[in-house]
Amino acid sequence: MSNDQNRVLIFDTTLRDGEQCPGATMTLEEKLEVAELLDEMGVDIIEAGFPIASIGDFEAVSEIARRVKRAVVAGLSRANPKDIERAGEAVRHAVRPRIHTFISTSPVHMKYKLQKEPDDVLALVIDQVTRARNLVDDVEWSAEDGTRTEMDFLCRCVEAAIKAGATTINIPDTVGYTTPEEYRTLFETVRGRVPNADKAIFSVHCHNDLGMAVANTLAGVNGGARQIECTINGIGERAGNAALEEIVMAIKTRADAFPYETGIDTTMLTRASKVVANATSFPVQYNKAIVGRNAFAHESGIHQDGMLKHTQTYEIMTPESVGVTKTSLVMGKHSGRNAFRSKLAELGYKLSDNELQDAFDRFKALADRKKHVYDEDIEALVDERLATAHD
Ligand code: KIV
Ligand code: ZN
Repeated sequence: MSNDQNRVLIFDTTLRDGEQCPGATMTLEEKLEVAELLDEMGVDIIEAGFPIASIGDFEAVSEIARRVKRAVVAGLSRANPKDIERAGEAVRHAVRPRIHTFISTSPVHMKYKLQKEPDDVLALVIDQVTRARNLVDDVEWSAEDGTRTEMDFLCRCVEAAIKAGATTINIPDTVGYTTPEEYRTLFETVRGRVPNADKAIFSVHCHNDLGMAVANTLAGVNGGARQIECTINGIGERAGNAALEEIVMAIKTRADAFPYETGIDTTMLTRASKVVANATSFPVQYNKAIVGRNAFAHESGIHQDGMLKHTQTYEIMTPESVGVTKTSLVMGKHSGRNAFRSKLAELGYKLSDNELQDAFDRFKALADRKKHVYDEDIEALVDERLATAHD
């Protein structure tokens, strides 16, 4: 059942945090293609870039702001006037502009990176949000390294940011350090302790250093967050960000555990994955959940036999639901006779029991020698025998 409380906003940062991973730089044309696809797919907020980072980034954010008509377009800024003005200028032409401004709040970041005392950081929080609010109505504030921040100080910063006008509060797991239980508790605690918490939407932003980004993201939502920051294919700094396609399909497939709704058209997920992989030249690992080339492929005889009897034996979502035309039964040395017969029928062959046994034996021998057995290989081994039989 849909209501405002279970609607979760999808904030895609493929073009900002995603592009920050080494080697993933995209051209303006590629960024525009990705942004238009994200908009069409139903992403609620597109973080288009970090306008102060370079002229190219500024131009990309400005152009995306001009072109995107439905989603909110966000530009990132640090806590200084120049950054904030540049971000405001870049998103100025968007139908729905947002400035996303951040500062570190953890002891290690404040001491070594910022070299500032907590009270100075708190003053900057108020200043950065106030400045951003003078430029746009929609301001997101992020507590960088939020999961390693001392709770009392985090609550003071969040309260001050909301008072200064922040409409979204993001508490990132910047270094991928948290656990699902901790992250859920963090949101419950902050939302319970900050008196004006109900005036803002809380947001999750998880990195994947320990491989827990998606699990942490979903736990944060269970703790009350209603915006998810993520990237296509999970690209991002170091081990990446939480993968959009995995989060959205977990919500769709396990509505019992995650009773939320997103606005994403899931049938576009595979296309989005391919467009981003091509634009960044980052290949998608074969066994990547949802969009990997093996995500709906079955090779073992037992699994293929089960799939031929009922698809729910080994698939928890349909390939069509993520934009893949069909399940693929990959023919290899683990394949069984049933799958082989079905493959022959698909290729247009109708063999007698003896011919089938003979072809199956020769296929197994071939599969032992060859890593990939293509349809053409199977056709060749059947055609060869049929030709000899007719000589
Ligand atoms: O990981 C992080 O903390 C970030 C912030 C800039 C939001 O990407
Ligand atoms: Zn990040």
